[in-house]
Amino acid sequence: MSEIKLGTKEKLVIGTEVFVPLLKDEQIQKRVRELGEQINADYSGKTPVFIGVLNGAFIFLADLVKQITVDCEIDFFKLSSYGDEKISSGKVKMLKELNCDVNGRDIIIVEDIVDSGLSIKFIEELIAPQNPASMRVASLLVKPNSLRYNVKIDYIGFEIPSKYVIGYGLDHAQRYRNLRSIYVLSE
Ligand code: IMP
Ligand code: MG
Repeated sequence: MSEIKLGTKEKLVIGTEVFVPLLKDEQIQKRVRELGEQINADYSGKTPVFIGVLNGAFIFLADLVKQITVDCEIDFFKLSSYGDEKISSGKVKMLKELNCDVNGRDIIIVEDIVDSGLSIKFIEELIAPQNPASMRVASLLVKPNSLRYNVKIDYIGFEIPSKYVIGYGLDHAQRYRNLRSIYVLSE
């Protein structure tokens, strides 16, 4: 049974592991506003389809689209790659498919975090044959030193070290997604 001690929020103790703040709530919100402004400028006159990758991206997607002033649509994929572990299994499973027709549409894939790049590569290979007009990727976090696949991330919130992070949509065995800030596992 893991115990969560929020205290001053300077430290999160989960069982025997300690997580410390990496990105504070306000810092995340400021960066999401900037990304929204950039996307509004880039998609002026267009109607992009934001495709959130569940579960992790649900909070980032929700905050991001609140900054969007161009007409847009929103849909979701559900993928599973990690199971309940901290290390990627190297396999991606599709748990929920898209409902929308991406043919001829401007697609923005929205991820919480790009680690190895496998999930993004998997999604791109799934969408590309359906002939979207364009396809870009927005990810709140990227671990540049963990990238193993050749993927281009067009909108990056923050580049972070290759360490396990939780909060703001990101889970640890499905928990802690509701934390407003992002915490990193300390050694
Ligand atoms: P990738 O396919 O290796 O790029 O991994 C991407 C997915 O793994 C993300 O969408 C997350 O769901 C998950 N993931 C990667 N790093 C972390 C982390 O530090 N904390 C929680 N989930 C993570
Ligand atoms: Mg994810």
